[in-house]
Amino acid sequence: MSKKRIGVLTSGGDCPGLNAVLRGIYCASEELGWEVTGFRDGFEGMLADGGDTLTLNRTNTEGIMQIGGTILGTTNRGHFTSKIAGGDKTEIPEDVVAAASKTCRDLDLSAIIAIGGDGSMNTALQLYRAGFPMIGVPKTIDNDLEATAMTFGFDSAVACVTDALDRLHTTAASHKRVIVVQVMGRHAGWIGLWGGIAGAADVILIPEIPFSLEKVADAVRRRDESGFKSTMIVVSEGARTHHGQQFRRQSSSGEWRLGGIGEMLSKEIEVRTGKETRVCVLGHLQRGGAPTTLDRILGMRFGVKAVQLAREEKFGTMVSYQNYEVLDVPIADAVHRLKKVSPSCQLVETARAVGVSFGD
Ligand code: F6P
Repeated sequence: MSKKRIGVLTSGGDCPGLNAVLRGIYCASEELGWEVTGFRDGFEGMLADGGDTLTLNRTNTEGIMQIGGTILGTTNRGHFTSKIAGGDKTEIPEDVVAAASKTCRDLDLSAIIAIGGDGSMNTALQLYRAGFPMIGVPKTIDNDLEATAMTFGFDSAVACVTDALDRLHTTAASHKRVIVVQVMGRHAGWIGLWGGIAGAADVILIPEIPFSLEKVADAVRRRDESGFKSTMIVVSEGARTHHGQQFRRQSSSGEWRLGGIGEMLSKEIEVRTGKETRVCVLGHLQRGGAPTTLDRILGMRFGVKAVQLAREEKFGTMVSYQNYEVLDVPIADAVHRLKKVSPSCQLVETARAVGVSFGD
């Protein structure tokens, strides 16, 4: 009898911890005597004739837990792209579904584990409804999926922001400057809030709490008057002014992406306070590098749980982290439900209690 075989793919933006999930999946499958076929570049790997694949084995999964990115490659573009966070949903074309279905049948896959964010889970859900044996594993540095208390990759992104702030504090203090640090997170302020608190920012601006430029300038002036001549400001890329204005830039492909708020803030602060101000956009540094201990463990646990779900044939479900346990939820309950920071949550209150300004 031939060995049971499952498929796995990483989809959407990469994030630290993806390789830990892959190692978890490989090792747990090996224990069961299963083979693991990895698709290259997310769902796209299903479209090449016979599949563009990499069979996972002991050698290519050895030593990968501590490495960022994904050994399978990924994309947030292509034939399956079904949703841009907070934006429109489109159906996957029938011919694409048919081609993917043929590949999976030819490979005789008894389960397919899709590791991705909201958009990728939406794709996984559509494929599940089309008859594919899908299991989801949530990932995003943004930590903005409602159906799981935490996604792996978030902790590593926050660690990157914290480290950057530690470094920037000393240069800001030496030059008596204001430094604006722009962080990722799309429409959610988790990275900004956690990174800002851990890195001792004086001002934290997140999408969920609209800010006034004058209030931010006030915070800088107040610090100056009390003898602290430098100010550290963390701003989430999706933060908005109290007029509702968000900042976007058009890429060379014509696509509009969040960006530019740090630059705008820096100019406005300089004009309003007369303080020399610099901006630092952390960008993709937040997605790269080695995963933290927490992300390695969470990733590994997610991978092992996904294999358990495959064994139980619980298709259409997604791994979910709740109350320190790794459980599962229907993918259908997980998509399109973005988790945002509540402006009245304890963490925001804690930050306010230690004097952090949210510019509101
Ligand atoms: O969703 C993860 C994320 O890193 C966001 O925080 C950011 O807005 C976006 O992806 C950047 O995407 P790209 O890698 O396509 O520039």
